[in-house]
Amino acid sequence: MSGGKKRLAILISGTGTNMTAIIEAAESGVLDAEAAVVISDNPNAKGLARAVKMGYETIACPYAKGLPREENEKAVIKAIKERDIDWIVLAGFMRVLSPSFVKEFRGRIVNIHPALLPAFPGARAIRDAIEAGAEVTGVTIHIVDELVDHGPIIAQREVPILPGDTEETLAMRIHETEHELYPRMLQELINEDV
Ligand code: GAR
Repeated sequence: MSGGKKRLAILISGTGTNMTAIIEAAESGVLDAEAAVVISDNPNAKGLARAVKMGYETIACPYAKGLPREENEKAVIKAIKERDIDWIVLAGFMRVLSPSFVKEFRGRIVNIHPALLPAFPGARAIRDAIEAGAEVTGVTIHIVDELVDHGPIIAQREVPILPGDTEETLAMRIHETEHELYPRMLQELINEDV
């Protein structure tokens, strides 16, 4: 681990709006860290192209179908280990990490989830909350353990579900909350980091 600015590996699978918010916070000095690398299991992730445009190193580690997770994760682990990373930041990384991955970096993996965990874990949390008729959902930031969308919670923020909300309108408000909360909570983690 490095002594100066904390080095983040940001893991994404999709659009990368949270990644962008974190990078912008780091660039503006609001977050005292640097995005050392952006890694994606999806070579076509929009967020990868965005990270390249912003001038950051990106690595695509495509997962091969039928291979055990541990095999698919080897390239990710290698990329992280080679870069002296302090924190692994999951920002819409839609793969479940294997227990051996979690063990390797225990306590150093952070995730953001678009619901108030333990409510609505999984990949369709926003839709699930609407379909369940919930009146309130939200955002959770937590340390990752071996279970899916599970582990010590660092912060939660409520987001109300309004009458007439669609998955899109609710996702927009959840994202706004995420983009404000994630950089701020990463800074808190870094402040407590020795
Ligand atoms: C975010 O809303 C994040 O909470 C969610 O994926 C989205 C990624 O958006 N993560 C999960 O659902 C994890 N279970 P982004 O690529 O625009 O940051």
